[in-house]
Amino acid sequence: MQRSDTERPRPPWYFPEYAPVGVDLGSGAAVAAYDRNQGTDPGADDALLDRLGVAEGTRLVDLACGTGSLVVQAARRGADAHGVDVSEEMLAFARARAERYGVAPHWHHAGFLDHVHRGPLADVVTTASALHQLPDFWKQRALLNAAAMLRPGGTFYLWDVIFSFEPSAADGHLRRWIDTAGRPEGEGFTRADFETHVRDEFSTYAWIIEGMLHRAGFDIVSRSFPRPTHAAYHCRRR
Ligand SMILES: C[S@@+](CC[C@H](N)C(=O)[O-])C[C@H]1O[C@@H](n2cnc3c(N)ncnc32)[C@H](O)[C@@H]1O
Repeated sequence: MQRSDTERPRPPWYFPEYAPVGVDLGSGAAVAAYDRNQGTDPGADDALLDRLGVAEGTRLVDLACGTGSLVVQAARRGADAHGVDVSEEMLAFARARAERYGVAPHWHHAGFLDHVHRGPLADVVTTASALHQLPDFWKQRALLNAAAMLRPGGTFYLWDVIFSFEPSAADGHLRRWIDTAGRPEGEGFTRADFETHVRDEFSTYAWIIEGMLHRAGFDIVSRSFPRPTHAAYHCRRR
């Protein structure tokens, strides 16, 4: 596994991105449960890779890759695929998945903030269900770092819990999300997981994210809000 430049000295005010935030994913068992609960679907990963134009030779970096399905599917179609995550447990699970499929993407034990992309600039950078792990000031830095990895004209894809409802209507939307998304223990993410997300993690509004994307150097090509609590952005590096 390649390590990024994580040994760089940081000022005392720097965000501790290796410290877990929110739902505990700090063990092999928790990671396996996470992979089951989120319903990893290589078919859905392939559909996304098709939409993003990822093909043989595409250089793709997935930030906060988790259990690595997107990276593995990209490697299976011949992309130069890189998975980046702060969790050694996630990366171990991802590496085992890659071995099962007989591919060898590059794994980096590194974070949104400190990953240094080496070699030619990436064609595509993705991140799913993870930017909310950073408070807004640090999200902006993460987006600047993502932009620095990409060639001009390259694609940035973001999927996350992002709020498109009116701030004055937040309570009702959050209540409906938590009431409907939670599953019984052992059958998926629970009500408590979603409560933890809202309370302890850093999901924010679409209009804030869009300002950050713009300031990081991205043009938004398309956006979708499949639910008032979730958003996808397909962006182009200026
Ligand atoms: C909810 S999982 C999402 C994983 C994967 N992207 C997916 O869609 O399944 C969040 C991931 O973000 C990782 N993570 C949290 N903070 C991070 C950071 N600052 N830099 C990189 N990865 C981070 C966690 O280790 C975890 O693997």
